[in-house]
Amino acid sequence: MTSNFVDLRSDTVTRPTAGMREAMAHAEVGDDVYGEDSTVNRLEERTADLLGKEAALFVPSGTMANQIALLCHCERGDEVLTGEGSHCMLYESGAGSAWAGVGFWSLGRGGLFDADDVLAAIKPRENHFARTRLVVVENTHNRAGGRVFPLPQVERIVAAAHTQGLTVHMDGARIWNAAAATGSSPAVLAASADSISACFSKGLGAPAGSVFAGPRELVLRARRFRKMLGGGMRQVGILAAGALYALDHHRERLAVDHANARLLAEGLAALPGVLCVPERVETNIVNFELPAGDAARFVAAAAAHGVRLSAFSAHALRAVTHLDVSRAEISDALVRLAALARSTARA
Ligand SMILES: Cc1ncc(COP(=O)(O)O)c(C=O)c1O
Repeated sequence: MTSNFVDLRSDTVTRPTAGMREAMAHAEVGDDVYGEDSTVNRLEERTADLLGKEAALFVPSGTMANQIALLCHCERGDEVLTGEGSHCMLYESGAGSAWAGVGFWSLGRGGLFDADDVLAAIKPRENHFARTRLVVVENTHNRAGGRVFPLPQVERIVAAAHTQGLTVHMDGARIWNAAAATGSSPAVLAASADSISACFSKGLGAPAGSVFAGPRELVLRARRFRKMLGGGMRQVGILAAGALYALDHHRERLAVDHANARLLAEGLAALPGVLCVPERVETNIVNFELPAGDAARFVAAAAAHGVRLSAFSAHALRAVTHLDVSRAEISDALVRLAALARSTARA
């Protein structure tokens, strides 16, 4: 932390460490649009291997990786089935409808769903309906509080989707957290999905960058869509070096973020007026509620007490642990939030 705030708004607020900056400063670079940046090429090969896919493409953001997935798998007018509150449907500024021209159909509750939900939502193949084409599973699920999409459930969904001629994309922005939480490798978690996106700029702490990974042919198509979307970057090995450093040094420590999130949830659950269920915290995101309070007002008051949080509905809030908050800072944040909750309860 370089400020007096304990910043728990997101795991995207981290700053590159000295070691990461050093690796970035010494990166070998070339023009990546010509495929000549050796550091990007190394990152793409390494990530494809980690994700168990034939090939991977480095892109500026998780949003672009997801948009490329929609463009690769769908045609305009197609329908995408996905969990409630999924990032590609809710948080990408309407890009799916603007660029890929797809509509979304929300399944299940709390981000998760099962094969039956997919089968029940597929539209009849006749003129009145959109063509149901793609299923997106988000693992871990951001809005649902970092929930891991259970592997057997993913496998059932993919099997059902494939019998109906649908493909499946995994939004694995936080697949590294899912792997740390379950002990399964990212490749195992993503094995059945036709493609996956994964981010380096969240729990892994790199300043930018994501990948889209899948079969070689699909990734070739993805390269063209990246160019169309303006995501072809030049001497971008500087960023890829940060991502490679993150893969080497910041994956193991994700368990620390998960333990810190549990500690935070247990402390929040003990505060007056706060509803938080620590057992629901599976990774680094803590969702909690103020059943009788105003979430936006609490966020403003918490900031005045030196703790940054996010509100995502009238009563619901989110706190995220990451590389730049230590266990001691979590304890400190809890002391500050306890003072706030007590004063709010008295008022
Ligand atoms: C699940 C999920 N997918 C995709 C993204 C998009 O990533 P970016 O912010 O790099 O565009 C996010 C960002 O928080 C996310 O949580």
